[in-house]
Amino acid sequence: MVSPVHPGAMDWSRHYPKHCSPPAHSLDALADPDVTVQVPSKRPHSPPDDLDALCMRSCAPYTATAHAGDKRVEFADIGCGYGGLMVGLASVYPDTLMLGMEIRVKVQEYVYQRIQALRAQNEGPEGVPGGYQNISIIRMNAMKFLPNFFAKGQLTKLFFLFPDPHFKKKKHKARIISPTLLAEYAYILHPGGIIYTITDVKDLHEWMVKHLTSHPLFERIPDDELASDPAIPHVRQSTEEGKKVERNNGDKFLACFRRMDDPIAHHTHLMPRTIDAPLLTAEAYAPFGQVISLADANRANLPTPSAANQNTALRFNRLADLVNLRTLPESDGGAAPNLCVFRCQPQRQRPFPLKVLERHPYSTQLFMPVASPKESGALNAQRYLVVVAANGPDDRPDCATLKAFIAEKWQGITYSPGVWHHPMVALDERLVGPLEEANPNPTLCD
Ligand SMILES: C[S@@+](CC[C@H](N)C(=O)[O-])C[C@H]1O[C@@H](n2cnc3c(N)ncnc32)[C@H](O)[C@@H]1O
Repeated sequence: MVSPVHPGAMDWSRHYPKHCSPPAHSLDALADPDVTVQVPSKRPHSPPDDLDALCMRSCAPYTATAHAGDKRVEFADIGCGYGGLMVGLASVYPDTLMLGMEIRVKVQEYVYQRIQALRAQNEGPEGVPGGYQNISIIRMNAMKFLPNFFAKGQLTKLFFLFPDPHFKKKKHKARIISPTLLAEYAYILHPGGIIYTITDVKDLHEWMVKHLTSHPLFERIPDDELASDPAIPHVRQSTEEGKKVERNNGDKFLACFRRMDDPIAHHTHLMPRTIDAPLLTAEAYAPFGQVISLADANRANLPTPSAANQNTALRFNRLADLVNLRTLPESDGGAAPNLCVFRCQPQRQRPFPLKVLERHPYSTQLFMPVASPKESGALNAQRYLVVVAANGPDDRPDCATLKAFIAEKWQGITYSPGVWHHPMVALDERLVGPLEEANPNPTLCD
């Protein structure tokens, strides 16, 4: 199984050739200086023997893929089995791309062949609406790499239909609905999007309801509201497992949950207020991370330097704690440090409106202003705003702890893992800052 390094590295044209174009490597992409595009020396030819591996291989060198106007996958069927749900929904939502995710090789191959056959049989005006061009399957472990495939808020429907029950208590951690995975599902689902669950195992139903209702970003949809949802009859009846349960006169426990709005939207809506932004000091900032500076008033706190480079320099070691809470190797979804540069346009609005807070649960982020030559040759790293908040008991930003600081161009900062923060805001002239983070997927933050 191969996963793309990020959602933009996926060549969806191989899954949905009628809806998506191959990765961009044309002049219009090159005209944008922020997009780097490498063209692979050779494109693989159809038909692929392992569609997923080819999709990843063929687009891995690109950094920008989707063409404007291309559709994006909106529905994902996790553990799709033999694909009955997608086949049922394909003509109900002929303009919506759906992806089945399945871990078993033989099952994935079967569904792939099934979709190819349906497409061939339904070509032209005689075929069903959409001609099954909007459904596809990928072989993957859905418990590991979902945010590598889908961007934040990309999906509108996420299906967990008759998932493996893992009856024994010590196997419960293998269940596909768990507190950790719910954070990922909330991340890839658009606010208003829906998680569908159905099972014939009462204990599993209660487990899923318990975890989803206690998650701050999901609310259960009342059964009467579901009556008008055209997906529901297929959730109940179209999957192979659902049909088997019906043949055996088994129970079917259905529960659906809506992805609620992001927390900061609620908080700012409920509590509009203005806060002051004093100058950044290491002491005041300590609950959130560290200040990296040789010019602070607290210079006494700096580690004792040692002589370096044939006595031409002083070296200050360990100015910040760089933490990586992931334990897996990078090949298994673990962390790799990423050093990158943000070029920030100055924000002039006063008071500056805070729109969003984000956090990186697994790793330290480090921002360090750097000078960059302007056309005049002058240097332009200037002051910037640092906005932080602690996590609250409801796993949302605790707005009572919200703090803003003005950082000078000679001060770098870290955000400790899990600290809510506003994206970087340059206050005066343009600020250029490199970011160092230990995160395999730069988009994986709340
Ligand atoms: C009981 S079957 C249900 C299949 C289908 N949803 C249905 O209703 O017919 C569960 C499916 O989930 C797949 N599965 C289990 N764990 C998975 C994982 N981590 N990633 C992707 N698929 C998984 C299994 O291979 C199996 O096909």
